[in-house]
Amino acid sequence: MTKKLYIKTWGCQMNEYDSRRMADVLKPLGYETVAESGDADMVILNTCHIREKATDKVFSDLGRIRDDKAAKAERGEKMIIAVAGCVAQAEGEFIAQRAPYVDMVFGPQTYHLLPEMVAKADGTRRVINTDFPPESKFDYMPAPEAKGPTAFLSIQEGCDKFCTFCVVPYTRGAEYSRNMAAIIDEAKALRDQGVKDVTLLGQNVNAWHGDKGESLGDLLFALNEIDGIEQLRYMTSHPRDMHDRLFEAHTLPKVMPFLHLPVQSGSDAILKTMNRKHTAAAYIETIERLRALRPDIAFSSDFIVGFPGETDAHFEETLALVRRVNYASAYFFKYSSRPGTPAAAMGGLVREEVKTERVHRLQELLNQQRLDFNRSLIGKTLPILIENPTSHPGQMYGRTPYNQGIHVEAPVHLSGRIALVDIQDANLNSLKGTVSVAFEALAAE
Ligand code: 5AD
Ligand code: SF4
Repeated sequence: MTKKLYIKTWGCQMNEYDSRRMADVLKPLGYETVAESGDADMVILNTCHIREKATDKVFSDLGRIRDDKAAKAERGEKMIIAVAGCVAQAEGEFIAQRAPYVDMVFGPQTYHLLPEMVAKADGTRRVINTDFPPESKFDYMPAPEAKGPTAFLSIQEGCDKFCTFCVVPYTRGAEYSRNMAAIIDEAKALRDQGVKDVTLLGQNVNAWHGDKGESLGDLLFALNEIDGIEQLRYMTSHPRDMHDRLFEAHTLPKVMPFLHLPVQSGSDAILKTMNRKHTAAAYIETIERLRALRPDIAFSSDFIVGFPGETDAHFEETLALVRRVNYASAYFFKYSSRPGTPAAAMGGLVREEVKTERVHRLQELLNQQRLDFNRSLIGKTLPILIENPTSHPGQMYGRTPYNQGIHVEAPVHLSGRIALVDIQDANLNSLKGTVSVAFEALAAE
């Protein structure tokens, strides 16, 4: 009998990947994913702890799900409620105490143990598992099921960098790299299901290393050889781990001309207290080296505004770095103190109004750069991966080499293919285009 599984995912791409893998692991037990939580037999909240209010959000969802569980119980039916991900890892005991109706609380490194954990919870025993098991979950999971022509592929997890603001080393544990052969097998399994565009994932993805000392650059060279995989991306990188072979990999035809390379701040003083272990100048040198190798490359970044001790002058240095780099897109966050991190004990807290004002200024500059970048593509012809039809007849949704969403006038039969598209219009959030005449003629042959 099939059972209904509802998974809600917060946070990073790693969590999205993990949610899919949890569904893959639960499938042999009869669970099929559904889009609504109300009537589900099992609800998993895959949580994120990176910024504040994470736990509050989880509890507000849990309140509603508890009511659904009670309604099901009145009909004599069961619902298993599970909290997974980084909040579960960081606050497992607290959740278990405060929400007795939660059946399972388990951390990111335990997902391969789901069958036995579910069996236990099914038998009405509570499961709380925030261990870091010695084995890797990846070695015990079935091959992933692809959903469309793009896929994430997790190659590395955890982090040993210990940036002073970040919870990841505590929630995801020590840095761990998957074996190269397993990664290649997974890429081929995805390819066999029609995947054309693979994004390699890791909290510190460019720290990935193979058993024989291979680097991420070597891995990209190997993946570039797989017929059928047409586009390769990777995220999230640390500027310190950009090594020679990785620079070289950016000349490969399948490696997309786009890199998310978080800098966090443009001030050396702040970078130092953040324990980033690089300077603003070193970061810019990396950007320039990549631009020299791949002139069409575009960049995005993460920024934290209002880190403890950040003065107006430090913030101006961030704005100066942004002007210098000229980003295609970016994410920016107000600093939020995370329990247990070194920065949580730092003085020099920045007032909320000051953070807000700085975030607005940064946003204005980054939005202008993003708009300029998007508009600079008008009139160009780009290879676009056509993903799925939109609600408008004759229109398809796709993505550009720069990972932007684009609406394309294109026939449905191009789904899952890479088409040459003339870019006709652009705003801040998306582009518009039409399949180029030359490509249509080619495709019709
Ligand atoms: N406060 C604000 N932003 C944070 N990030 C990580 N930790 C914090 C924090 N404590 C941001 C960083 C990181 C992104 C994933 O989240 O910019 O790159
Ligand atoms: Fe959030 Fe970081 Fe955990 Fe991803 S790894 S879910 S970003 S806390």
